[in-house]
Amino acid sequence: MGGTEQKYVKEAFDTNWIAPLGANVNGFEDAIENYLDNDIHVAALSSGTAAIHLGLKLLGVSQGDEVLCQSFTFSASANPITYLGATPVFIDSEEETWNISPELLEIAIKDRLEKHKKPKAIIAVHLYGMPYKHKEINEIAKKYEIPVLEDSAEALGSTYRGEKCGTLGDISILSFNGNKIITTSGGGALISKDEKVKEKAIFLATQARDNAPHYQHSHIGHNYRMSNVLAGIGRGQMEVLDKRVAARRDNFEFYKKQLSHFDEITFLHEPEGMFSNRWLSCITTDSFETREKIRTSLLEEDIETRPLWKPLHMQPVFKDYPSYLNGVSERLFEIGLCLPSGSNLEISDLNRTSQQIEKNLTA
Ligand SMILES: Cc1ncc(COP(=O)(O)O)c(C=O)c1O
Repeated sequence: MGGTEQKYVKEAFDTNWIAPLGANVNGFEDAIENYLDNDIHVAALSSGTAAIHLGLKLLGVSQGDEVLCQSFTFSASANPITYLGATPVFIDSEEETWNISPELLEIAIKDRLEKHKKPKAIIAVHLYGMPYKHKEINEIAKKYEIPVLEDSAEALGSTYRGEKCGTLGDISILSFNGNKIITTSGGGALISKDEKVKEKAIFLATQARDNAPHYQHSHIGHNYRMSNVLAGIGRGQMEVLDKRVAARRDNFEFYKKQLSHFDEITFLHEPEGMFSNRWLSCITTDSFETREKIRTSLLEEDIETRPLWKPLHMQPVFKDYPSYLNGVSERLFEIGLCLPSGSNLEISDLNRTSQQIEKNLTA
């Protein structure tokens, strides 16, 4: 926590706004809008997953539709496709950002069109905070008139050619889960350039109640709004977001300085014009064996790491859906590792991890 969160939470208690609305919800939305400063509108929700669900709904996705989704991501990027009775179609990654491959995206769209199934939306993800190739993806999306849902759950604080991640999609989402760069313990946001989309999102997120003195409903709604108590945490967290980004980037630079001289280890560079919040510090190794050697030796020292995301097309629950593959995400899953990356790590913690890796590679 940054320090001022409890002040805002106390305000919620003092004013008795213990509800999914109140001054903190409005204040948190204003703070995000000011930060992203791109004439955008933010609806604070209960999770990033809820935001993706509502986002897809607002893009018109429904039963029987197909949605193209980056395969190399967390399952929450794709789960909401199935909540709507739609089918995910998975697209592999390119090497430069580890995100959705523009080349494969276009191949997939052409193939789906040939099969007379025009995809209803594209879900592109800034994985680990690294922006996806927005210009290329956007050009393809425009050419085929398919909207993009920008999954910026991991990328608050990242920018693409000076534009903030979270403002690049037709609809964008953020997550404030406990593991994210800033947190409300659990929470998310839906972002749009169109104020009406924000209003519709809030309408759907508060049980779709019609304007009447009694309870009247013409649509199926959800209970997806953010609590005013948690939004108080979010207001405090927004005050330290820049510090958090700096700390995460420092972690990455530290590991890079200590370890990049090893031939077995590679770090993902920021392509020109891209700025990553380096949410997690990730490495790739020269083989599955090296990755496992590093992972298990750190575990023996009680240092937790995690292989990179298992691609969704390999997940038991998604494996039978269509996919367009080039081997990139499968390889990254085999050889990649997320190192300890918290914003509160001390130099001594970072040293302990990197020295253990050095010891392991020079043994
Ligand atoms: C890429 C990605 N998309 C979506 C989500 C879902 O966000 P939440 O956990 O807030 O539902 C997460 C994180 O959990 C994520 O990492």
